[in-house]
Amino acid sequence: MKFDLQNLVRENIRRLVPYSSARKEFAGRAKIFLDANENSFGSPLARDYNRYPDPLQLEIKEKIADIERIKTSEIFVGNGSDEAIDLLFRIFCEPRTDNCLICPPTYGMYEVSAAINDVEVKRANLNRDFGLDFQAIENEIDAATKLLFICSPNNPTGNTFARADISNLAKNFGGIVVVDEAYIHFSRGDSMTPEIENLPNLVVLQTFSKAWGLAGLRVGTAFANEEIIALFNKVKSPYNVSQIAQETVLKALENRATVEETISAIIAERERLVDGLREFSFVRKIYPTDANFVLVKTTDAESIYKFLLDERIVVRNRNNVELCEGCLRITVGTPEENKSLVNALKKL
Ligand SMILES: Cc1ncc(COP(=O)(O)O)c(C=O)c1O
Repeated sequence: MKFDLQNLVRENIRRLVPYSSARKEFAGRAKIFLDANENSFGSPLARDYNRYPDPLQLEIKEKIADIERIKTSEIFVGNGSDEAIDLLFRIFCEPRTDNCLICPPTYGMYEVSAAINDVEVKRANLNRDFGLDFQAIENEIDAATKLLFICSPNNPTGNTFARADISNLAKNFGGIVVVDEAYIHFSRGDSMTPEIENLPNLVVLQTFSKAWGLAGLRVGTAFANEEIIALFNKVKSPYNVSQIAQETVLKALENRATVEETISAIIAERERLVDGLREFSFVRKIYPTDANFVLVKTTDAESIYKFLLDERIVVRNRNNVELCEGCLRITVGTPEENKSLVNALKKL
């Protein structure tokens, strides 16, 4: 199947006349704004937030464009990358007709978003060592497969897939390949972002929730060619990223060096945590990780999970996830948190 963007887009989205917000119709400078039915008096509690934010988040996009060496028109900013996942279904998948393909075990929201949008999910499980099963992927793809999700580094397994392998998948697929790079800043592997120039069907998702430490703000990004980004902008809600989120992300982007320091600290701490966990006899295997978490195979995930809960430490129990039997997914905490975890486990 050859990639043809216009053919891939749902008919209703192709025909859609998007909402034209006040701030989109007039984005310039003026003395008095009486066009958006905002409260001109402002709130006595938070004076700076009575105006709608920039619907296209241009200041943020200019900074990201510099960092990623792409154009602002190749960037979508959303209410978390979860918004971008949902929009992909709404743009490309006809409910009850089209399908998407995921490679489990992987991030759960692809499936949930598919269900919300009434879209069938096909599965090509990773192989035993968590590599992509190219034959299974090829077998599962059919004419109605519009989205292929590759999470790299993958949640919950922590491994990064080779850029060349993802490129090959994209070159041989007539739908959209979505590479979710929520954890890429912790990875030894390279981002797929430079490939958006060469691969017209590639969408790369990143987020401010992980390495940037801003999960509470809900800001994520999608990078793709400008035709795809124009579709995101057509379908998104008008003011999808709040003023306070835009301001804070801009500040973070202007202080990138501090983020790089945090990333290095988390990676160093990850290695210490792995060393600490290796000592326990109930730990069967610690999978190599490129993320800010480790997947740990244990002799009895359920009871260790419950024991830790009693110690008021919450990890993620992945015991019921196919290929992750016996596994706990543990986020790298601060040095104190990790020490507390290891000390608690000594009591087990
Ligand atoms: C692989 C992956 N993608 C996306 C997200 C969600 O990111 P956001 O906070 O930007 O919605 C997560 C969150 O855990 C994730 O693990």
